[in-house]
Amino acid sequence: MLQRREDKDRLPHVFDMSDPAEAERGIAAAVAALDAGALVAMPTETVYGLAADATSSRAVAGIFEAKGRPRFNPLIVHVPDLAAARSFARLGVIGEQLAGEFWPGPLTLVATVPAGSDHDHDAGTARIADLVQAGLATLALRVPRHPVAAALLRAFGRPLAAPSANRSGHVSATTAAHVAADLGDRVTVILDAGPAAMGVESTIVDVSRETPVLLRPGAIAREAIEAVLGRALGTPRAAGIVAPGMMASHYAPEVPIRLDATSVRPGESLLAFGPILPPGAEIAIATVNLSPTGDLREAAANLFAALRSLESRGAPIAAMRIPATGLGEAIADRLRRAAAPAA
Ligand code: TXA
Ligand code: MG
Repeated sequence: MLQRREDKDRLPHVFDMSDPAEAERGIAAAVAALDAGALVAMPTETVYGLAADATSSRAVAGIFEAKGRPRFNPLIVHVPDLAAARSFARLGVIGEQLAGEFWPGPLTLVATVPAGSDHDHDAGTARIADLVQAGLATLALRVPRHPVAAALLRAFGRPLAAPSANRSGHVSATTAAHVAADLGDRVTVILDAGPAAMGVESTIVDVSRETPVLLRPGAIAREAIEAVLGRALGTPRAAGIVAPGMMASHYAPEVPIRLDATSVRPGESLLAFGPILPPGAEIAIATVNLSPTGDLREAAANLFAALRSLESRGAPIAAMRIPATGLGEAIADRLRRAAAPAA
C-alpha cells in the first residue's frame, strides 16, 4: 500500500500489548481515540476488529467509510458481558443458553431488539447507532474472550461496533501488520497482541426466531453448538433469510483460487493441507501448508495469513480440499467465498 510522506504523522500509533506498561498506555490511547469518534484496531481471539463507539453514528459511519463497506451490511456489537448484551436485545431462551455456554468467546448472537427500546432506555443504557443494524430489527452481539478486547470494553464503558479489520471483501486481518496493510491510514490506534489465536471469525447464530439458524460457520464448530442445544441448527436458506453480509465473494485475495485442487498446474501456488501433497507440488510458485499434520485448528489459525502470503506472490492459487467437519466448515466456507468471482 502506498504511503505518502506527508501522511507519516497520521500513521496509527501501534502499542505492543505484551509489554504491561505499554499495554496500559495502549488502552488509554484507544479509549481517548474512541471517545473522539476515531477507529481503533482491537485484537480478539478470532481476528482483529476495527472498533468504533457503537453509540455514535459519526464513529460508526467512519467504519463503513474506512472499509469501503456497503451500508446494508450490519455490524457486530461487542460488549463486556451478558448483562450488557441483555440491555440491548432480548436473547430469548436459546440465546441465553448459548451465551451461558460460550460467552465470553467466539460466538455472535443475532437477537431481537424489543420495539420501542430506542425511546424508553434507562439512563445506564446507551442507544446503539441506527447504522449498526443497517435497518434490520435484529442486533448482532458478541462478548469476546481476548483479554485486550475485554480490557478495552471495560475501560471504554460503551459497546464497540467492530467488523473484521480488513478492506471490505478482502482477506480478514489476523495480525497487526495485516491491519496496517489494509487500513493503516484509517486507524488511529492499533493494539498489537500478536497473531489471533483462532484465525477465523466468530460463529453467528440467529436466535431471533423459533429455530436457531447458523448464519456463518466460524470458530465454534456447528457440532458443539448443536450438542449444547440438543437440536440441529437451521440453515439461512431454509429459514428464508437473506443474510445481508453473506456475499458470495468475500475474504478474497486479489488472485484467483481454484478449489478442491488435486494437482498443481504450471504457474500456480499451492495452498496445502495435510501431510500428502498433490502431483505438481514441486513446481508450485509458492506453497503454504495450513497444517502439515492435518489439524483443523491449526489450519484455521493460519488461513488468512496464508492467503495474504500467497496473494503477495501474484500467482493463482490451487487450494487442496479441507474436510468440512468441525472447524473445517468455517475454513471451507471462507475458501469458497475467497474463490467466488467478485460481484
Ligand atoms: O469474529 C468476529 O465476528 C469478528 C471480530 C472482530 O469480532 N467480527 C466480524 O465482523 O467478523 P464482520 O463485520 O466482518 O462480520 C459480521 C457479519 C457480517 O456478515 C454481517 O452481515 C453479519 O455479521 N451481521 C451483523 N449483524 C447482523 C444481523 N442483525 N443479522 C444478520 N447478520 C448480521
Ligand atoms: Mg469481515
